Amino acid sequence: MRFPESFVWGAATASYQIEGAVDEDGRGPSIWDTFSRTPGNVAMGDTGDVACDHYHRYRSDVRLMRELGLKAYRFSVAWPRIQADGTGPANPKGLAFYDKLVDALLEAEISPYVTLYHWDLPQSLEDRGGWPVRDTAYRFADYAVAVHDRLGDRVEHWTTLNEPWVSAFLGYGNGVHAPGHKDAGDAERAAHHLLLAHGLAAGRLRELGARSLMLVVNSAPVLTPAQVNDPCSVPSEADAAAVDRIHALLTRRFLDPVLRGSYPDEVRHEVRDGDLEIISAPIDLVGINYYNPCVVQAAPGEPADLAWPGSEGIRFAAADAPTTAMGWPIVPDGLSRLLVRLSRDYPEVGFMVTENGAAFDDVVAGGRVHDEDRIAYLAGHLREVGHAIAAGADVRGYLVWSLLDNFEWAFGYDQRFGLVHVDYATQARTPKDSALWFRDVIAGNGL
Ligand code: FCB
Repeated sequence: MRFPESFVWGAATASYQIEGAVDEDGRGPSIWDTFSRTPGNVAMGDTGDVACDHYHRYRSDVRLMRELGLKAYRFSVAWPRIQADGTGPANPKGLAFYDKLVDALLEAEISPYVTLYHWDLPQSLEDRGGWPVRDTAYRFADYAVAVHDRLGDRVEHWTTLNEPWVSAFLGYGNGVHAPGHKDAGDAERAAHHLLLAHGLAAGRLRELGARSLMLVVNSAPVLTPAQVNDPCSVPSEADAAAVDRIHALLTRRFLDPVLRGSYPDEVRHEVRDGDLEIISAPIDLVGINYYNPCVVQAAPGEPADLAWPGSEGIRFAAADAPTTAMGWPIVPDGLSRLLVRLSRDYPEVGFMVTENGAAFDDVVAGGRVHDEDRIAYLAGHLREVGHAIAAGADVRGYLVWSLLDNFEWAFGYDQRFGLVHVDYATQARTPKDSALWFRDVIAGNGL
């Protein structure tokens, strides 16, 4: 299976998950520092204090990327390195780190894909209300401009937000992520202000000449249990309505306002005049992070899940499929079903798979990691990307989550998603068999 000549191959990471160096060079605290240091929030009490020490090891990490033949590297900028308390003049030392990283990538002929927000909000902004308050969106746009001012001469690909659904509904809804609040109304306000932040930043970066603007969402096909293994299974009317409602709450709540300038009926927000014009600033690409489908069925009387305000009468169900170490079901053709549908529903943008990957219980033996299960996962999903393209979906690239094993949020270091194994005691990097396999996929532009 060959991919288009221009297809982009790469891997992704995020600042808090790999950088460490949380007190260096003027970085302020983020909500993830506070959250991970609060006992009970993260498995084993793990924090991002050291993580993969990438802040000090970025040069050798970029060398590793070059050896793997990556064409693109998606990383995020830690806002509290640029503005320790989320406002005011940019910190030159914080900017300098990303400046050197970008230069190292370009020298290695790897395209930087910069994400401006992958969940590490400056703690001071949280102290002033965080994403549930409108002002945070305006602070974000100023920060975005500060980063663009420094990197915009070399970086073409800009992503505003990673997975606003997760920031809003896990951060403020069920509280599983920082800042750990449990309030459905706050979560909904956060979702709207994240979109406002996206639109304000997209508009300003475009004026400043940014060539490619992207929003990255965690999307998934919403399926009934029967549809997991039988795409042709016809759901009952009640189940079909449940599927449509969850699709609106997960995916349309972000893509409709951004790409069509309107919220779906299922979503009610306080929207001020002019917000939707700002939010629908033109973008070029939508990034899709796909791991598993969302499986639901109608269940009259079921209360709404804390992370899903508006989901009353719907039950989230297990999928009949093998699982990864995270317990996430492995359903590769969920990715093609999703890409084909979204490409049809939103023909005005291109798509890119900005995250896909799996955690397994890897073992290092004799300097190798034989992660056949990860190779099977990635190959299965890539084949589905190929099928989606053949069916007409406009998919421009595929980035593996993740380059390195790293701090997997509430799961700490227990879950390993990397192509490259990290020994956290020594910081030794060992490319897993999947990394060598992926290198060959890239070299051959296909499977
Ligand atoms: C996504 C996140 C990423 C990583 C993967 C496993 O939701 O964007 O940081 O944690 O899940």
